[in-house]
Formats: sequence, structure tokens, C-alpha cells
Amino acid sequence: MVRAKWKMVVSLILFMVSPGDGLFHAVYRSILVSQSFKGNAGQPLFLSPYIKNGKIKEGQRKSMVSPFPGMNDKSYAGYITVNQTYNSNLFFWFFPARMQPEDAPVVLWLQGGPGGSSMFGLFVEHGPYIITSNMTVVARDFPWTFTLSMLYIDNPVGTGFSFTDHFQGYATSEDDVAQDLYSALIQFFTLFPEYAKNDFYVTGESYAGKYVPALAHYIHSLNPVQKFKIRLKGIAIGDAYTDPESIIGGYAAFLYEIGLLDEQQQKYFQKQCSKCVKYIKEQEWMKAFEILDKLLDGDVTTGSSFFQNVTGCTNYYNILQCTEPKEQSYFAKFLTLPQVRQAIHVGNQNFSDGAEVEKHLREDTVKSVKPWLSEIMNYYKKRYENVFSFPSSGRSSHLPKKCMGSITKGSPDRVTLLCEIRASASRSYRWLQPSLHIALE
Ligand SMILES: *[C@@H]1O[C@H](CO)[C@@H](O)[C@H](O)[C@H]1NC(C)=O
Ligand SMILES: *[C@@H]1O[C@H](CO)[C@@H](O)[C@H](O)[C@H]1NC(C)=O
Ligand SMILES: *[C@@H]1O[C@H](CO)[C@@H](O)[C@H](O)[C@H]1NC(C)=O
Ligand SMILES: *[C@@H]1O[C@H](CO)[C@@H](O)[C@H](O)[C@H]1NC(C)=O
Repeated sequence: MVRAKWKMVVSLILFMVSPGDGLFHAVYRSILVSQSFKGNAGQPLFLSPYIKNGKIKEGQRKSMVSPFPGMNDKSYAGYITVNQTYNSNLFFWFFPARMQPEDAPVVLWLQGGPGGSSMFGLFVEHGPYIITSNMTVVARDFPWTFTLSMLYIDNPVGTGFSFTDHFQGYATSEDDVAQDLYSALIQFFTLFPEYAKNDFYVTGESYAGKYVPALAHYIHSLNPVQKFKIRLKGIAIGDAYTDPESIIGGYAAFLYEIGLLDEQQQKYFQKQCSKCVKYIKEQEWMKAFEILDKLLDGDVTTGSSFFQNVTGCTNYYNILQCTEPKEQSYFAKFLTLPQVRQAIHVGNQNFSDGAEVEKHLREDTVKSVKPWLSEIMNYYKKRYENVFSFPSSGRSSHLPKKCMGSITKGSPDRVTLLCEIRASASRSYRWLQPSLHIALE
């Protein structure tokens, strides 16, 4: 009994700090993917010219990925040009659902970071393939692609295989992110019209807690005035980093409670976080970013972060592992193999670790998308189950379900809204308490 409870506590904590987090992309940084390679990687495939010229069948055929040995999943991959001025291109890899692809929902997956490649989600979290240390491809037992048509996009441009030729091509705001993704989606559905009539969901985790509401809100605003309607049905976000102001205040107490900070360190941490929140309120974005980076990430400010110094750990996604598990980066080496690059049509394009992307989004990292999320939730409130129906039984599904389970009084619609906003504060101690309580009952 005691043992079972302990397990529950651990699994919840793991969830709170699960990978792909935040400004929190050390996990992706360890992925060195622009190693040189020998052999013919082919040419990158740019699909926008086919789309523009109505050569749909030809574009589809060209984007088909030859299955890896022993696998027989159908999939399509290539580049979509989202801004011609700057030659900005988003890389996608699309897997039609194995079961009833003709009417399965289409689910867009966006990794966090900022600057984390969605190939992490594909290979490490829920795609059909797992890569082993010897570069063998193994089938995942329960991939999301069983029942969902999964669209993995490296986002924003400059992330993973996605790239831009110009400094100004990088996103500096969530508006930029949404605009580029929207352009990619319109073109994608033009290339694959048979999937455009199906329900569409925007999903992701961690820093995608900002991308998802931004894109959903963008679609929601443009659908009424655009000829092409994207059939947005709902959104799903795991360990969402949506509203920094309401999240950051809870870090110190949380880290103290799980024993990663002592009392003295907690006091310092809290003081810095309060300062950060104060700067956010004053819209001093860079100052807020710098405090947080020094405290937790050490991404941009030089030297190791306060967190790294006092815990001796570089990995804060799993308190049981001080460093990243190496299985999480096997896929990176896999993506350097010329035959793989040829198969997924990226040719010799560099795979970026996201550092440049984060530099351009520094100010954005401390801004909130809460108003967009609230509006979306209001609009889709009648689609309550859809909004919250996570396509997986993975860890990320805990929070909204717990949240729904706890609703006993009041107007369900209002509570739904509140619930989701609180879910966005998933990293805070205040939120952890009630979910622990519910879980242990
Ligand atoms: C290209 O990006 C720039 C900067 O974000 C933007 O001003 C411009 O409208 C974009 N062009 C197109 C065609 O989307
Ligand atoms: C590669 O790894 C897989 C899974 O760990 C194993 O089954 C297979 O035998 C290995 N292949 C070689 C050639 O070592
Ligand atoms: C962490 O320790 C290093 C080495 O002592 C130091 O240079 C750095 O300033 C420390 N970082 C913080 C945020 O205190
Ligand atoms: C990849 O990066 C290297 C080093 O930054 C650069 O020299 C090369 O031109 C890049 N390749 C492509 C295809 O952009």
C-alpha cells in the first residue's frame, strides 16, 4: 500500500518535469545532429512548387517515404515553403492512421523548447518507430498512429530540419510562429485534400503550450474569412508552458518540497523568481528572461545555472536521472545516416539544435498566451470532451483528466476554462498539491 502510493507520487513528479520542457531544451541540445556523413543523402524535396502548380498527385508521390527495413508504415515527408522572401521552410513527416485513415482525426504534433525538434516526439515519445543503439528501427507497441493521422512538424523555422536563409526569417513572437504554421497547414491540406475534411487537432507539449494556443487562435480568427477552412476541433497540451507569470512563482517551493533545494537555496530561488515575475509585470522581457535563464537553464547566459550548481544535475526532467538517458538521442545519429536522409527527403540540410531559434524568442519565453487560450476554450466549450480528449494514455494525459474528475459543482463550462488555465500552471507547487491529493484518495 505504502509502496503503491510512493509509486504514484513518483509518477506524478515525473510528469511535472517531463522532457521536452520549457525553455528547457537542454534535452535537445545534447542532440548533435549536424555531424558530417558519407554517402548520398539525395536532395531536399520542396513541395510548394507542386502545390502551387496543382501537381498534387506528383507531389504526393514524391513525398512518399520508402519504409525502413522490417516496417511497413506509409508516410510522407518533405519541405513546405512558408515565407518566400526569406526562404523559410518547415519540414513535415506525415503518418496516415493505420486504422481507417479516411476518417481518422489529423493531429499536428509540436515539440517544445523553444527549438526542440518534433522528431523527439516521433522517435522518443509516440511515433511508430524507436531507434536502438545499433541504429535498428523497432516498432513502438502503441504509437499514436494506430488511430490518428499524425503530422510531425519541426517548428519554428530553424528547428531540426526546418530552416530559413535569413536572420529575419526567424520567429520573434507567437504571431510569427502561428503565421508560418498556418501557411504550412493550408499547403499541406492542399497537397493531401483527402485528409482536409477530417477533424483536426493541434497538440504538443511544454513550450508548445504557447505554440498550440497561438496556432489554434490564428486558425480560429482566419477560418471565417478564408476560403480554405481548417477543421479545427480541439487542442491538447501536455506539461504546458503557457502563462510564465503564474508558473514561475511556484518553482522554488516545488523544488524545495521534492528535496532538490535546501532552505537557504529555496530562499534565494524564490527571491529571484519574484524578481522575474516583477519584471514580467513591468514588461521588462529581457530582464525577466535573463533571471530565469541564470536560475534554471543556462542556455544563453554563460556558465552553468544556479540549479545545475546546487544540484549537480544537468537534467531536470526526471528527478531520478541526473543526466539525460542516452536512449533519448539515438534517433539523432539515425537522422545523420545518408539513406535515412534520402528516405525522408531532407538531403544534406543541417539539423539545428534550436539555439538560434531560442535566441530570437528570448523575449517571447516570458510572455503569456493565456488570453488566446481562454478565448479558444470559450469557443470550443461545447466540444468539451474533444478539447480534452488526449490521444494517448501517456503521462501527459494525467492532468486534464484529473482536472475534469474534480469538477463537481458549478457550471461545467466555466470550470473547464478555469481548469485549463490552471493546467497551464502545471509546473507550480500550487497545482501539484491538488493533483497529488486526488491521486492518493
Ligand atoms: C515573411 O516574413 C515577414 C517577417 O515575419 C513578414 O513580414 C512577411 O509578411 C512574410 N511574407 C509572407 C509572404 O508571408
Ligand atoms: C540491434 O539491437 C536490437 C535491439 O536492441 C537487437 O535485437 C539486434 O539484435 C541488434 N542488432 C545487431 C546487428 O546488433
Ligand atoms: C555556477 O558556478 C559557476 C562556477 O563556480 C559560476 O561561474 C556561475 O556563476 C554559477 N552560476 C550561478 C547562476 O550562480
Ligand atoms: C550546414 O552548416 C554548416 C556549418 O554551419 C554550413 O557550412 C553549411 O553550409 C550548412 N549546410 C547547409 C545545407 O545549409
